[in-house]
Amino acid sequence: MGLLATLSKPAERLLVSLPIWQLALLGFAAFLVLCVAWNVVRQVLLKDKNAPPEVWSWFPVLGNTIWYGMDPFDFFFTCKEKYGDVFTFILLGRRVTVCLGTKGNEFILNGKLKDVNAEEIYTGLTTPVFGEGVVYDCPNSKLMEQKKFVKFGLTMEAFQSYVDLISSETRSFVEKGKVFQAHSGKIDIVPTMAELTIYTASRSLQGPEVRAKFDSTFADLYHDLDMGFSPINFMLSWAPLPHNRKRDIAQKKMTDTYMEIIKQRRDAGGKREKGDEDMIWNLMGCTYKDGTPVPDREVAHMMIALLMAGQHSSSSTSSWILLRLATRPDIQEDLLEEQKRVLGEDLPPLTYENLQKLTLNAQVVKETLRLHAPIHSILRKVKSPMTIVANTPTTTKTYQIPTTHTLLSAPGVTSRESEFFPDPMTWEPHRWDEGHPLAYTRMGMDKEEFEDYGYGMISKGASSPYLPFGAGRHRCIGEQFAYVQLGAVLATIVRLVKLRQIEGKELVPTDYSSLFSRPMAPAVVEFEKREKA
Ligand code: HEM
Repeated sequence: MGLLATLSKPAERLLVSLPIWQLALLGFAAFLVLCVAWNVVRQVLLKDKNAPPEVWSWFPVLGNTIWYGMDPFDFFFTCKEKYGDVFTFILLGRRVTVCLGTKGNEFILNGKLKDVNAEEIYTGLTTPVFGEGVVYDCPNSKLMEQKKFVKFGLTMEAFQSYVDLISSETRSFVEKGKVFQAHSGKIDIVPTMAELTIYTASRSLQGPEVRAKFDSTFADLYHDLDMGFSPINFMLSWAPLPHNRKRDIAQKKMTDTYMEIIKQRRDAGGKREKGDEDMIWNLMGCTYKDGTPVPDREVAHMMIALLMAGQHSSSSTSSWILLRLATRPDIQEDLLEEQKRVLGEDLPPLTYENLQKLTLNAQVVKETLRLHAPIHSILRKVKSPMTIVANTPTTTKTYQIPTTHTLLSAPGVTSRESEFFPDPMTWEPHRWDEGHPLAYTRMGMDKEEFEDYGYGMISKGASSPYLPFGAGRHRCIGEQFAYVQLGAVLATIVRLVKLRQIEGKELVPTDYSSLFSRPMAPAVVEFEKREKA
């Protein structure tokens, strides 16, 4: 009545005559206008002068979510040009402060434990998938111990056995699997590499029992569990939605399966033989500092965490490797030539030692991760107010970042900057050769600083513009494994098939819609088996 009283008679008559759905629509439109007005007033009149500049947005809560979500790098570079290295944007109602540049990477990734926190951001999403008591569902000191167990389990002997297992798994996938049945044809790269990645990771890191299960029950369980990583779960991981119910059932069944494998190993005497190099064996023998052996349930949950964390990142990277190679037959020939030159014309079986000698092979992985790192945004919660000195387009400014903000580091931005990588958007594995015209401008100049965060000495690395595996205490624990896995898969595939971009087709764009970015499906290329495989 109050609102009606302020209206003129004809307007009042018109409103009263409207059907209820039109009234509701009108009410919603009025509400939207008020929201937009409030959001404009807030940004123009109520801005905090000490805080980083806020990226303009019309709608509250939604803020810049759509732009960032569709093309984060376009968003970062455009905002950098306008606001400088440090700015805040609204992501689904959260105030997210982006800190770019090598200083920004350092500020966030090597932030002190009292200032920045990862588990509070990630746990809602990861704990229902990994299970309790591991990774982000425990104090940071416990995670550091868990990372130490994994790191120390990735021994030279382990890697030696993994290279053999991964290359033979790849060979049989190409020679006997369904995908490459014909002598030549087309393949859809993303599902193909997802399948091969799961086989190679399970055969090596996860152990023979898990590999055998991927031929039967595990694939469906894995799929249901993976649905727990749907982006919607950043907000609704607790919601009783069908995909979350399936996730929870799959999590329990997978945990039970791993625990059964552990029990069977213990029942069989629990003695590790030479060649038993998988991570289950390693974790079964680990003990926390306080003397508690790692409980079987936690071993199971850690194995699930390694499976899930490794799968998306490695399968996305290997997909990009093959897609890029399809555009550069010359690099495929260079790779094969390197193997013949370094290992011998008869191409002997790959070993861990001879994989280390394949420089270009490693450079292909490295260059692919420069442009296609699967994790484009690394998030931290601000725990105590932080001060940062930032470059703006015209000067430098000091900003205070309050505890209501989330920090976002995007090392993929520095790895796409011409200051460090001439002609940065060109994929060129040879740029890592010394003296190449596109060579990394700081080749050999990066100052390596080391620190032990509780899982052995690692390179702090945050001042480098190239950080696909992150840096600091949360730096990826799977880096070495990923290099071995990707390197062995690549070296084997190059021996067996040639890839070609379909004529008239361009390289597919990146799909940023899931948590880990990957090539947009379908990403189809042509293959032809080599004569002498
Ligand atoms: C963390 C990248 C493969 C296990 C990370 C982080 C990045 C990353 C950037 C840091 C996240 C943060 O700071 O919040 C990659 C890339 C990979 C890869 C580019 C492959 C190309 C793997 C593999 C495994 C793995 C194969 C397991 C075997 C983990 C785990 C963490 C992690 C457990 C969490 C560490 C922590 O928070 O302390 N990874 N990763 N990753 N990665 Fe990887």
